[in-house]
Amino acid sequence: MPENGGDVLMIDELLKLSREISHAVKYEVDYITEKGDGGKVVGMGADGTPTSAVDRVAEEVVLDILYEKDMPVKVVSEEAGEVVIGREHEMVLALDPVDGTFNAVRGIPFYSISMAYSNSDKFEDVFFGYVFDLSLENEYYTFHGSAFKNGEIIKVSPKKKLEDADIIYYGGNQSLLENVKRTRLFGCASLELCLVAEGKMDVFYDCRNKLRTFDVSAGVAIIESAGGTATDENGKRITGKISVDEKINVIASNTFLHSRIMRVCNES
Ligand code: IPD
Ligand code: CA
Repeated sequence: MPENGGDVLMIDELLKLSREISHAVKYEVDYITEKGDGGKVVGMGADGTPTSAVDRVAEEVVLDILYEKDMPVKVVSEEAGEVVIGREHEMVLALDPVDGTFNAVRGIPFYSISMAYSNSDKFEDVFFGYVFDLSLENEYYTFHGSAFKNGEIIKVSPKKKLEDADIIYYGGNQSLLENVKRTRLFGCASLELCLVAEGKMDVFYDCRNKLRTFDVSAGVAIIESAGGTATDENGKRITGKISVDEKINVIASNTFLHSRIMRVCNES
C-alpha cells in the first residue's frame, strides 16, 4: 500500500476516529437488529440497491459524528452517495456503514463497517484502511506499512500450492474450482479480505463485476499491508475512482498463489 498519506500522528487520529465511529455504529446496529427491524426497506441507496433500516441507521451515525467534528472529508458511501463534510475537504472516505447487511439482519455473526481513507478520489491513493467486525468486535487496520488485528501484526498465509488452498470464491473463472482444496463464501467482502490478510483463508476471488469500491477498498489496503497481493482479473493493481457506480473485480492472496491463479485463469 502506498505510504503517501498522512503521517503516523494523523493515522493515529484516524484510528481513534474509526474506533469511535465503529463503537457508535455497533450500538445502534445491535439495537435495531435485536428489535428485528433491521431488514425493513426504507428507501433506495445511491448505489441503486435497496436501503435497509440497519444500513440507514449506521450511515446516519457515521455522518453525524463526522459533521460534529467538522472533518475535512468527502464521504463516498453506499446509501447517501457523495457527502462533503468540511468545506475544504482534504480526504476521501470510502465507507460501507454495514457490509454484509443480509448477515446482520438474519443474525448471522459476520458483518462489518469498512472505512478506507484516501488522499484523493482514487482507489490507489488509500493510505489507511480500517474494518471492524460488528459482531465479534475484531478490529483490522493498516498502520505504518503493516496490518493489524486487535493490535497484533497479521500476515497472509505462506501456502504455495493452489491444490492446498482454501479459497473464498464468488464467481468468475470456474476452472479455478478444479484446482483448489476448499471453497467458502461468507457474505461480507471486507471481512473476507481480512480473513485472507490474517491467513485463515488463502484466497479471495470475486470476478463477477459486482463489487463496489467501498466494499473492498479497506480490505485491499489491509491485504497489501499483510504482505499479500490484490489485483483485478487481469493481474493489474486495482486503480480507478472511489465512487458509488464503479464496479470492480478482486483477486487477493499471497504472491505465490496469486501467480498460480493468474496462470490457471489465463490458460482456460
Ligand atoms: C455485499 C457483501 C457481499 C458481496 C456483495 C456486497 P453489502 O455488501 O460484501 O459479500 O458479495 O457484492 O454487495 O450489500 O452487504 O454491503
Ligand atoms: Ca453495505
